[in-house]
Amino acid sequence: MMSAADDRLQTGSTTFFPVHSRLTAMPTSSRGRRQDPMSQLPIFQNIPPGTQPEYFHPPYRSSLKRAPTRPLVLLPQTLSERTGPVFGHAAVTTSDSDLTSQHAGPPGGERIVVNGRVLDEDGRPVSGALVEVWQANAAGRYKHKLDQHNAPLDPNFDGCGRMITDADGRYRFTSIKPGAYPWGNHHNAWRPAHIHFSLFGAGLLSRLVTQMYFPGDPLLEFDPIYNCVSDEKAKLRLISWFDWEHTSPEFALGYRFDIVLRGRIATPMEK
Ligand SMILES: [Fe+2]
Repeated sequence: MMSAADDRLQTGSTTFFPVHSRLTAMPTSSRGRRQDPMSQLPIFQNIPPGTQPEYFHPPYRSSLKRAPTRPLVLLPQTLSERTGPVFGHAAVTTSDSDLTSQHAGPPGGERIVVNGRVLDEDGRPVSGALVEVWQANAAGRYKHKLDQHNAPLDPNFDGCGRMITDADGRYRFTSIKPGAYPWGNHHNAWRPAHIHFSLFGAGLLSRLVTQMYFPGDPLLEFDPIYNCVSDEKAKLRLISWFDWEHTSPEFALGYRFDIVLRGRIATPMEK
């Protein structure tokens, strides 16, 4: 459980109050009248066309049945969507961010350290965001009953981790580089190496589910999921870059992946 002192989530210069405390901690004007709580919250900017995946993208077969057939209905941004949910931080431990030390031995594969910052569209750090990751092992196999690829499972690798961003919006985790794997989208279809990300920022509207790719991967050109995004600059936001600063001698290669929640330069969402 969070203490009352921990009840505020800082996002840059903006303080977010969770719903239950906002109603009692609502700011007052100099005349003593309560101000409209909605006026204290950020307004998210419109998203330029082409910078997020198309719902209907025929090369990605799953989109044929999944894409909406009617225009979307825009809902107003309400107080609860912009301030909640609030999650406790006690359950997330530092060991959750090391995917290579969850078993008796180290997993097979190329050890990597992935790091980055979680930002809002104006470049302000999003602190206190929950970052969850999951991935295939070095052979391209998920530890999941639905993954029946005949690559070997790794008894020393579950492929799941999580962490909370610090005051500068930074996160970091240790893992192994995932392998490419085949999938049934079309003949000889292979997913490029990727790590799945799920983020919870200050509210439901700053939720993001996406995939991080690796620089120079020849499979990106042929991947229908990566190519659901048509804007070339937006696509580049999905690719990490090699990071000497976080490359450790005799230990691991570093990769940097910055994430923008919401707005005109948002990291593309997985759809
Ligand atoms: Fe995947």
